[in-house]
Amino acid sequence: MKVAVIGGGGREHTLAWKLSQSLNVEKLYAIPGSAAMADIATCVNIPLSDLEGIANYCVKEGIDMLVVGPEVPLTEGLADICQAKGLAVFGPNKAAAQMEGSKVFAKNLMKKYHIPTAAYASFTDGEAAKAYIHEQGAPIVVKADGLAAGKGVVVAQTEEEAVEAVNAMMEDHIFGASGGRIVIEECMVGEEASLLAFVDGTTIVPMISAQDHKRIFDNDEGPNTGGMGAYAPAPVMTPALVKEVEETILRPTIEGLRQEGITYQGCLYAGLMITAQGPKVVEFNCRFGDPETQAVLPLLDSDLAEIMYACTQGKLRADMVQWKPASACCVVMASAGYPASSHKGDVIEGLDALDTDAMVFHSGTAKKDGQYVTNGGRVLGVTAVAPTLKEAIDKAYHNVQAIHFDGQQVRSDIGAKGLKHLK
Ligand code: AMP
Ligand code: GLY
Repeated sequence: MKVAVIGGGGREHTLAWKLSQSLNVEKLYAIPGSAAMADIATCVNIPLSDLEGIANYCVKEGIDMLVVGPEVPLTEGLADICQAKGLAVFGPNKAAAQMEGSKVFAKNLMKKYHIPTAAYASFTDGEAAKAYIHEQGAPIVVKADGLAAGKGVVVAQTEEEAVEAVNAMMEDHIFGASGGRIVIEECMVGEEASLLAFVDGTTIVPMISAQDHKRIFDNDEGPNTGGMGAYAPAPVMTPALVKEVEETILRPTIEGLRQEGITYQGCLYAGLMITAQGPKVVEFNCRFGDPETQAVLPLLDSDLAEIMYACTQGKLRADMVQWKPASACCVVMASAGYPASSHKGDVIEGLDALDTDAMVFHSGTAKKDGQYVTNGGRVLGVTAVAPTLKEAIDKAYHNVQAIHFDGQQVRSDIGAKGLKHLK
């Protein structure tokens, strides 16, 4: 099979790494890929905004399956355009990708099909939104309806802060059209976890659970980022909880969508809050998580290309998806200034001095004179797999310590919450 991975970040590097191990994959492409992905795939420089260009290239090359990493091309309809040309695409079509592309759409679907989530109201009028905030009181959560690169959520501790968020989204348009509609919801309390699932339209096979670390500093302090590290499986997600999430969240969501005439195929990512009343949805994403993928896929003991192709054909079976009885920890190394900005061009040293079984997934690097340099906010994800979570964490940090670039930012407590559960 000829497979093309769409995207060029750490998640896509991990997808390509896992796909490259498949006996079913004879040739791997990455559009646009990255300097690091060029070691395992043929990189083709077509911008992600050129949906027709991507589709036409894949037809011309005789690509058998596209695997789409990021949400933006999915919400813009890349899968629809490619499928119309006869290509198999792992990833939801435009209608199904609304689960991530529109928070109002996702919340309304959850309400209609009784899927546990925070109580909410949606608004297109700023004054009505502010009145609702004063009626509900703080803490309260304000979300832009559309995509906002993970920055469209404000967990406001005071009513004033919530009102400011409404003004920023609806009057100052800081997220453009994405903030024209907003959701205001109840602030849930609990521990967060992610459960991703392979979905073929009807059959759902959950992956191993994971936990992300969204804040930039230790102890979950400082501003939100794309994710500073992840580990899997997450002990907070006991086998009973995974079953509960499958039965009360994943299955009714996919079935609800079907009743609305929408077939969901690809990876469905449920961001969860484990509250005192049970698991509730924080958000859905229509693709793999970054950096969850860097912790989850190294534990997959099956052929990823076979699973994904089965999803595109409506032929997924649970026995196709097997996991290693081990733990994985991925520690992200970010550049100076992240998340407000990023620093480019700092030389990355030590990549040749790592344990032979350490995995380094490149999120934002470039090659300059044969040497890797920083080229984005999140730079590297360093993953280790070991029999226990403690050993995986120690091994990941041991390798992180061998790597250096100026201004590097690394959390020192990735996985610590998981260890607390195991005590
Ligand atoms: P999202 O982009 O929707 O994942 O939100 C970003 C982060 O905001 C989440 O990871 C949570 O930590 C937090 N968050 C979002 N919605 C809620 C909520 N209803 N209650 C508490 N925290 C929330
Ligand atoms: N790690 C969070 C996300 O991928 O959205």
